[in-house]
Order: sequence, then structure tokens, then C-alpha cells
Amino acid sequence: MPDSAQTAANDLAPYWMPFTANRQFKRAPRLFVAAEGLYYTTDDGRQVLDGISGMWCVNAGHGRREIVEAIRAQAGRMDYATAFQMSHPAAFELAARLAAILPGDLDRVFFANSGSEAVDTALKIALAYHRVRGEAGRVRFVGRERGYHGVGFGGVAVGGIANNRKQFGNMLGGVDHLPHTYDRSKMVFSRGQPDWGAHLADELERIVALHDASTIAAVIVEPMAGSTGVLVPPKGYLERLRAVCDRHGILLIFDEVITGFGRVGAGFAAERFGVLPDMITLAKALTNAAVPMSAVAVRTGVYDALMQGPEGAIELFHGYTYSAHPLACAAALATLDIYRRDGLFARAAGLAQYWEDAVHALKGAPHVVDLRNIGLVGAVELEPRAGAPGARAYDVFLECFRNGLLVRQTGDILALAPPLTIEKTEVDRMFETLAKALKAVG
Ligand SMILES: Cc1ncc(COP(=O)(O)O)c(C=O)c1O
Repeated sequence: MPDSAQTAANDLAPYWMPFTANRQFKRAPRLFVAAEGLYYTTDDGRQVLDGISGMWCVNAGHGRREIVEAIRAQAGRMDYATAFQMSHPAAFELAARLAAILPGDLDRVFFANSGSEAVDTALKIALAYHRVRGEAGRVRFVGRERGYHGVGFGGVAVGGIANNRKQFGNMLGGVDHLPHTYDRSKMVFSRGQPDWGAHLADELERIVALHDASTIAAVIVEPMAGSTGVLVPPKGYLERLRAVCDRHGILLIFDEVITGFGRVGAGFAAERFGVLPDMITLAKALTNAAVPMSAVAVRTGVYDALMQGPEGAIELFHGYTYSAHPLACAAALATLDIYRRDGLFARAAGLAQYWEDAVHALKGAPHVVDLRNIGLVGAVELEPRAGAPGARAYDVFLECFRNGLLVRQTGDILALAPPLTIEKTEVDRMFETLAKALKAVG
């Protein structure tokens, strides 16, 4: 390494970056210093089109003045209010606003600060719910292969990504995994939901038969698996999962950390796919990513079951110092205002066909072995380089970045999910840049 590069690497050394190849990154850092609308500005002054909404979270586009102002005003008025045995008005207002836009009777809302915390919260609510109803034996969980539910021990345990698990020992016990729903031979180049795969939900019956329903608390799935490369649920799959859960008194949790807030062509995936879970986890896009915040929305019956015992007794021994943080509530309320005023969920749904055509126009481009889409989400799966999994997609990611487009690489898959404010011309630009990068990379 030349001396100057070594000095730069040393300056960058103290920050241990998450889910990043630290040594590789620090040798050639990529830094953003500003963001506005659909574009980031890099430290060397280049504009980069945000093809992944930050990290699936800036659904209304960057730098929204109303959100910035709401945060500023709240910070000036009251920086923080303790969340235990005290609160503040915006927390109640936000819960009510979410209840009003969530499907069915998902009307009770618990706040946390990250998707990971929301997932662990939902798992704990499931255990507490069964226990209070006299079914304390329901302690097992069922997740799914290729599921991502954050990085808490609960979320990692129900998640189905080997790399996220193998460094960390036993995690939560008593967890089974459904098979993932992707089979290229059956669904390659499907537009939207694949026709094949509903029967994979019946694997839950096999797990129930093995352990007995009386031991299983909840099933947790992402309605559309995002982090492992956009696996769109087969037609009928989620419906069948719901039916099996109902048959056996098992709670169904949808992890909508990515799919919530307009991403898949409706307000929420539960709405889009017409299946009502017992709990929904939310995080990304709740505050347009301006302040960290997450939430678990539960059906009224689940909440009511826990509202028992002496009135002065705490019903759920769980919570975070920063649950319903005032700045996050202010940002979320302003974000919901924008979603409603600008009709962004309907806007995204209206663009979905154009988007689908743009994604599938990459058919035949170099290295492309599959293309997937739903709502304003797309995935481009590449043939891996022999002996170097992920390397080709990483090179495409870098080439795109150099040419002014941010995409997300996961293994040999590139995921795309632009802000819901994107225009058709920018959709075209995204795919032109990507197509060029695919040609440029060997
Ligand atoms: C479906 C899903 N659940 C949970 C998480 C974890 O969220 P966080 O990184 O905010 O903890 C993510 C993050 O990508 C996610 O996609």
C-alpha cells in the first residue's frame, strides 16, 4: 500500500463498519456527504442516483423539508420524554395514525428503534400472548430459509442466512425453518408473483406434526424476502401459511420492515397479498429513515389478551429507553403526511408496470440468469464467477457506483428499490447504467 493510502486507512480504522468488508472498504472508501431527492452527493462531488432508497428506507426521497422541520421543531420543544410510565402526545397520535392505515384490526402499536428490535419484540409478544392464555408450552418458532429478521439473537435464530448465524453459537433454541420459496427451474423470469410454490407452505404441517402444535408460538416470514435477493411469494403461498397457522392456533408474523409503506404496490404487503397476519413488524420508511424507529402492530385480540390482571400491573415486561422517541415520532408523523398528501403508495403502484417492463428488459444481458419484481422492487440475479461467489455482482455494484447509480449487492444478486418518488426518466437511467455495467464486467 502506498504511504498516503496507509495514512488514509489508519484514519478510517477506528470505525468498525457493520456488514462491510472493513479492510477492503478502507482501502478505497466510498463516502456520501449530502442527499437531496433521488440523489446522493459523494465526497468527490459526484451525483449518485439512489436506486435502493438508502437501504430500502427513504421511500419519500431524501431531504424532505417537512420532515426536517418537524424534527427541528420537536427537538426545540422537547428533546426526550421517558417512555416508561410516562409519554408524550405524538406517541399516541402516531400509533393511531398507523392503526388507521394498517389493514384489518392491526390496531395496537408497540414502538422500538430498529427492525431487529421490532422482530425480537414480536417474538416476545407471541410468547407472552400464549402464556397469558394458559398455553405456556408454546415456545417454539418457525422461520424460513433465506429469511432476514435483523441481528438480535431472536431475529438471527428465526432468520435463515447461514453467514449471519455461524459466528454466534446456539442463539435461541427451538426454532425450525420452512424451505425458502425460490426454485429457478420453476419460476425463472417470473413477472410479479410466481405461479409455482404455494404448496411449500404445507411444510408447516410437517413441522407441526413433528413437534405438536401445542409447542409452537409463531411463524415469522418476510412476505417478500428482501435481503436475500427479492424472493416474491408464490401465488397462494401466504394464504396457505395463514390457513395452517389458523388450523393450529399459531400466530403469524409478517416482517414488513422492507415491504411496508408502499414498497410492494400497496400500503403494506399484507394488503397487497390479501393475507392478514397477527402481527406486522415495521421499520424502514416509517420515518423516511430520518430518525431510527420501528414498530410492531398487533391485532386487537392479541393486545386484549395481555390486558389482564390487576390494573396496576405492567402487562409486558419489555420496552426500550427510546421507544416512541419524540424526534422519531415527529419524523414519522411528517412522513405519513407526505405519503398521504402526495399519494405515494398509489403512485408507486401506478409505476409498477413500467418498472416491471424495465426490469425484464434486462433479459439477455450478459451474466443475467433471472429477473424478479414486485411493486417498486427489482432483482437481477447473475451467474456467479467460478470459484468466486458474489464477486461478479460486487464488481457490477462498483461499476454502477462509479457511473452514478447506487444498487444493493447481496451474493450474486443486485437488488433495486428506488424512492417511490422516482420518475420514468430516472427508471430508464437506472437500467441503462445497469445494462452498461453488466457489459463492462467480466
Ligand atoms: C425484513 C427485515 N427485518 C428486519 C431487519 C432489521 O432491521 P434493522 O437493520 O433496522 O435492525 C431488516 C433489515 O434489513 C429487514 O429487511
